[in-house]
Amino acid sequence: MKSALIVYFSSTGNTQKVAYAIKEGLENGGLQVDLKKPQEAEEIDFYIYDLVCMGSPSIEWQPAKPVADLLKAKLNLYRSQGKILPCAPKVAGKNALIFCTYSGPHTGIDEATPAGKTMRQYFEHFGFKIVGEWYVVGEFHGRMDNSTLGKLGDIRGKPTLDELAKIKKDAQQIAKSL
Ligand SMILES: Cc1cc2nc3c(=O)[nH]c(=O)nc-3n(C[C@H](O)[C@H](O)[C@H](O)COP(=O)(O)O)c2cc1C
Repeated sequence: MKSALIVYFSSTGNTQKVAYAIKEGLENGGLQVDLKKPQEAEEIDFYIYDLVCMGSPSIEWQPAKPVADLLKAKLNLYRSQGKILPCAPKVAGKNALIFCTYSGPHTGIDEATPAGKTMRQYFEHFGFKIVGEWYVVGEFHGRMDNSTLGKLGDIRGKPTLDELAKIKKDAQQIAKSL
């Protein structure tokens, strides 16, 4: 049975909703799935999984600190093990899905892509094939101005159940494609 690891950080619940939807979709697609917070993933070797999903909110257009710290620690570890090679050759059967939630109040998706691309870079360095880089709009909890007057308009209630259902379906497709 193929397996997946989902690691995510979430402070107000948006990224957690996406992580749970991905988990359900991957399980429906036939994968065995472990779901962890960054601190719980410190001792886990990413290379034992067929698919690693890494999720974070955009925090000042970067990954949240627990995610950034985990990825830096993994890069240092894998470098010490000789796994970080020039030209980042792909390691057969290793896949990664990046997901980032954001509210985009000032400049829209441009506030999220640096966070997603940063997470992606780590997995490209690890030799993983990137099977998805997903950006999901989430309500800016506790900031009515940023949830109603921002670049993306009224984003209260996002991600919606419909949006989560689509994420679930897309994750199921990924699972089947592995
Ligand atoms: C301190 C802080 C900084 C944030 N910075 C950004 C940002 O730079 N760009 C953006 O689009 N959203 C930003 N947000 C909004 C969050 O990325 C967004 O609401 C996200 O979905 C929250 O995820 P969570 O509920 O999983 O914690 C910020 C939120 C907080 C609390």
